[in-house]
Amino acid sequence: MAKIDLSKYKNFHVLNHPLIQHKITLLRDKNTNTSDFRRIVKEIAQLEGYEALRDLKTTNIKVSTPVEDTQAPIISKNDLCFVPILRAGLGMVDGMLDLLPGTKVGHIGLYRDEQTHKPHFYYYKAPKDLPKRKILIVDPMLATGGSAIDAVKLLREKGAKNISLICIIAAPEGVKAFCEAYPEIDLFAGALDRCLNSHAFICPGLGDAGDRIFGTVE
Ligand code: PRP
Repeated sequence: MAKIDLSKYKNFHVLNHPLIQHKITLLRDKNTNTSDFRRIVKEIAQLEGYEALRDLKTTNIKVSTPVEDTQAPIISKNDLCFVPILRAGLGMVDGMLDLLPGTKVGHIGLYRDEQTHKPHFYYYKAPKDLPKRKILIVDPMLATGGSAIDAVKLLREKGAKNISLICIIAAPEGVKAFCEAYPEIDLFAGALDRCLNSHAFICPGLGDAGDRIFGTVE
């Protein structure tokens, strides 16, 4: 199959930090057990969140240091919302919340049909004031891109205007589909893998992230 050229998608960012690359390698290892896998997903989410929030706006408040009063920047918890795509996204949201504990969390339930590989919706709950927040969707895997595309569509219908997506591993097919659907939405990935196989699994990938986070591997 011809290699997909992703260079034209300027909204796609691979977070090439050695710490992220190292931890993704540990996730790929089939011998990494459930508790280590879950911990490493959380650590990667923190590192990716640090990079993806680099342009987040801050506001100055007055703070009294032991020496004097000054103006210093803060991030308002009312400016953000994290949205994990269930189930696997739950593994990342804990890491994001370690960065900014007061942030509100929305949830979108989607599962991918094993035969058609199409996402099926089953749950939605999020803060009502989405339009004024920056939304960070988190899901470890971007395979066909169908789940992420549906999640953005749903959040847009609910009024969200400022959305980014953070995944851990992306397939070129999913990146292409997402970036063509939403060229204005930043897509961050820890690694860009080679391709999808005939079951729409990412290769080399790390298996099923949800199953490995929650210990439901057959
Ligand atoms: C996985 C993954 C994404 C989706 C990616 O979830 O966590 O949500 O598939 O595939 P796509 O890009 O082709 O849509 P899955 O459906 O296995 O559900 P789970 O998180 O409950 O395991």
